[in-house]
Amino acid sequence: MRICLVASEAVPLAKTGGLADVVGALTFHLTRAGHDARLILPFYSGIEAPAGGLAPVEQVQEVELEMGARVLRFSLLRWAGEDDRQTIYLLDCPELYHRDSIYSADPDEPLRFAFLCRAALESCQRLEWSPQVFHCHDWHAALLPVYLAASGRSWPLLGASRTLLTLHNIAYQGVFEEKWLDSMGLGGGTGFPAEASYASGYVNLLAAGIATADLLSTVSPTYAEEIQTPELGMGLDGILQRRRRELFGILNGVDYDIWDPRVDPLIPFNYTPTDLSGKAKNKSALLSDLGLPLAPDLPLAGVVTRLVEQKGLDLLVDVLPRALEQKKLHLVALGSGEERYVRFLRSLELRFPQAARYRNGYDEELAHRIEAASDLFLMPSHFEPCGLNQMYSLRYGTPPLVRATGGLADSVQPFDAPTGSGTGFVFESFTPEAFSAVFDQALETWSNRATWHRLIANGMAKDFSWKTQVGEYEVLYRFLATTGALSM
Ligand code: ADP
Ligand code: GLC
Repeated sequence: MRICLVASEAVPLAKTGGLADVVGALTFHLTRAGHDARLILPFYSGIEAPAGGLAPVEQVQEVELEMGARVLRFSLLRWAGEDDRQTIYLLDCPELYHRDSIYSADPDEPLRFAFLCRAALESCQRLEWSPQVFHCHDWHAALLPVYLAASGRSWPLLGASRTLLTLHNIAYQGVFEEKWLDSMGLGGGTGFPAEASYASGYVNLLAAGIATADLLSTVSPTYAEEIQTPELGMGLDGILQRRRRELFGILNGVDYDIWDPRVDPLIPFNYTPTDLSGKAKNKSALLSDLGLPLAPDLPLAGVVTRLVEQKGLDLLVDVLPRALEQKKLHLVALGSGEERYVRFLRSLELRFPQAARYRNGYDEELAHRIEAASDLFLMPSHFEPCGLNQMYSLRYGTPPLVRATGGLADSVQPFDAPTGSGTGFVFESFTPEAFSAVFDQALETWSNRATWHRLIANGMAKDFSWKTQVGEYEVLYRFLATTGALSM
């Protein structure tokens, strides 16, 4: 099949979080499964191409697109990555994409991503490539179905193309002042859905995509249910309920070429389920590199995350200081984001110099090393569409402690010591008490080596590989390509 993926980030070129892992891996695994899958991504100034790794695409050079009163010019480059794992086109428009970071707080943010959508359609037409499915990700690509529905005639080759919009996190909706519609070429009743325009004078780009895409998916079955409720629907529950028959929950996969301790080149010692000696060495190496004392009788808890409220960091604020005071564990945390959480993690390091370390920033290698070195991985998210780190943790023999929400509920089974079943520690209600209780249970379980090894083995035996998950997307693509109808 011919599938065009459109997104704001993807490994190995541009990443701030799990969206990049998923989009990059999905493109690769679709290619490996024999499909003609191609990804279109903005050419951010931060993207470093390997020497000779970027080739201009002849048919798409210096193309002018009218966006309202403005004319923007772009060219397409093809990225030939390591071993040609996947086809990635980079959309070169310095005016829009040469900024300090992938996302910006600049006033033209809606235009940056509206342009990605329109230029993606224009590029396919010029490439004379007609995807059966445009697979759009999050609000940044949500206008593509809107443009296709509103001005399909501009791209005659794309008349039969259908759209799938995947919701990775509905906390980010792309809400902007209505005046932007004109600059996006969608003003004056030209097809922007009325239900995505608010009386307050704002428009919601994600809602526009949800109203228009042929099919919708999100990244776990539980999150697909949760977003239809007022509690977690973030104002979109009504429209999502209305489209529930076209909404599917597909759990993300894991790219085990990248995230597996057997082969991971970013960790000092590789290891397997039958020989965990490398894991112990990774722990000693990390503790020593971070200047923490080696204390074999203390578990090491790891945290790798964007520092935002979603991730349940407020529970860590409530529970961790006491646990550290009582010398129950060592802690290594990596993350960047909101200042209040940065301050909290820094304060832990200052208060407990013998037990806690925090690294502020984005560090791919350290993220892998924390997965490999830790005994327990903390992910008490308030909500979590899917979450990848808990699945990485399972593979690295690092039992995750999670809240039962979204993809965390779908991927971690509570450990039951008497029967030896389960893969991690799971709590339900978002309270310090519930978190504390399960945290204590985890620490107690850790002190029994045989039980703990059983738990590790259960987790390492789990398989969330993309090979299986890709099959679920193929069902949706095939359905769209063959019937194009809206209900299943
Ligand atoms: P989200 O997409 O909401 O951030 P996920 O669990 O789906 O959450 O994915 C997070 C991804 O980002 C993982 O690959 C994780 O290792 C990575 N990550 C998050 N914060 C950092 C950081 N500070 N440094 C390196 N990697 C990070
Ligand atoms: C989002 C979600 C996360 C999910 C990721 C990839 O960033 O917060 O739960 O795993 O997208 O789908």
